Amino acid sequence: MTPSQLKQVAEWFAAAGVSDITADKNSLHSGEKKEAGTLEELKAAIMRIDIPLKDCALNTVFGVGDPNADILLLGEAPGAEEDRQGIPFVGQSGQLLDKILAAVGLDRSRIYITNILPWRPPGNRTPTNQEMELFRPYVIRHISLVNPKIVVCLGGTATKALLQTSQGIMQLRGRWTQMAELSAKILPTFHPAYLLRSPSQKREAWADFLNVTQAVDQTS
Ligand code: URA
Repeated sequence: MTPSQLKQVAEWFAAAGVSDITADKNSLHSGEKKEAGTLEELKAAIMRIDIPLKDCALNTVFGVGDPNADILLLGEAPGAEEDRQGIPFVGQSGQLLDKILAAVGLDRSRIYITNILPWRPPGNRTPTNQEMELFRPYVIRHISLVNPKIVVCLGGTATKALLQTSQGIMQLRGRWTQMAELSAKILPTFHPAYLLRSPSQKREAWADFLNVTQAVDQTS
C-alpha cells in the first residue's frame, strides 16, 4: 500500500468515527507461522486462528501427501467433500486431478497438496482478498517446510494469492516464475474445476504437468 493509499484508509476510518485501531486477535498469533518449525506446529498455529470462516467448516483441511515431496500443488480452498473428509482434492476436481497426474506418471503419494484456505468458504464462494492476505504467510511457511523444487498453482485464485499479482490465469498459465520468499520454481496452471467446465483446455493443463515432470528430472 502506498503512503497516499494509507492516508486514504486512515481518513476513511476517521470519517467512520473510528479513533482507535487495536491489533485484532489473529495478529496476536502473527509470529507463530514464522516460528513453526514443523508441519504439526504450523497446523496447530492455523487451528488457533479465530475467524468466522472457521465456524462454517466441518474440518480443517491442512495438507496431504509426501512432506518431503519435490512437487507441491497449491489449490484454492476445500469444497464440500474436502470439508467432510478433511483432505484436499478428494471431490470431483480431485478425481480429475488424479487422472491428470496419472497421465504424466505422477501419483498423489509422491507429491504434496494444500490450499490457500484451510476452511471451506460458505457456498464455495471465492476467497476474499482479506482471507488471501491473512493466510498468505501461513501458505509460504507451509511451502517452506515441505521445501519442494516446484510449486504448481492450481487456478487463478491460488496464483493471485501466492504471487500477489493482478494478472489473470490466462496470461500466467504455463509460465515459470519465482518469488523472493521461496526457493521453488512456480508454475501456474488451470484449476481442475475449470477444466471440468472447459474440457478443451485439458490439453494445456496436461502440457503444464508434463513440463513439471521434466523440470523435476532436470533439477534432481
Ligand atoms: N478445489 C480446491 O481448490 N481445493 C480443494 O481441496 C478442492 C477443490
